[in-house]
Amino acid sequence: MKIFFTAVLAFAAFSASADDVAEGRAKAEAACALCHGPTGQAALPNAPNLAGQQAIYLSEQLRNYRSGKRQNEVMNMIAKPLTDSDISHLSAWFSAVKVTVEAP
Ligand code: HEC
Repeated sequence: MKIFFTAVLAFAAFSASADDVAEGRAKAEAACALCHGPTGQAALPNAPNLAGQQAIYLSEQLRNYRSGKRQNEVMNMIAKPLTDSDISHLSAWFSAVKVTVEAP
């Protein structure tokens, strides 16, 4: 378990530079904000929040939408043209957004 978490943290630290985050932000504002909101807090009631989500999770979902392993008409179309570096930039951006949570 400890080894697993160390590996995950190392990956996260390695994958997200300030440049990755900035590139992801620009791309997201142009292509994702309409539904997922400008900072990843969903603007549509049927779109999920992406802000603060783990980069590894986001990248996996985007690759699955791109390949068709995860089916959703809208996201399959949106993910199709994304390159691997687009995916890592977008994931770096949304995961860098800080979210605070408050229990009711
Ligand atoms: C037209 C609206 C729309 C746009 C634009 C859009 N999305 Fe989505 N997105 C959705 C909807 C709706 C879902 C839920 C799909 C499902 O049920 O699988 C979703 C799901 C996702 C998920 C899965 C989240 C999870 O919790 O599993 C990710 C990641 C994602 N979108 C990323 C993006 C990115 C990155 C962009 C821009 C490149 C983008 N989306 C643009 C509507 C949109």
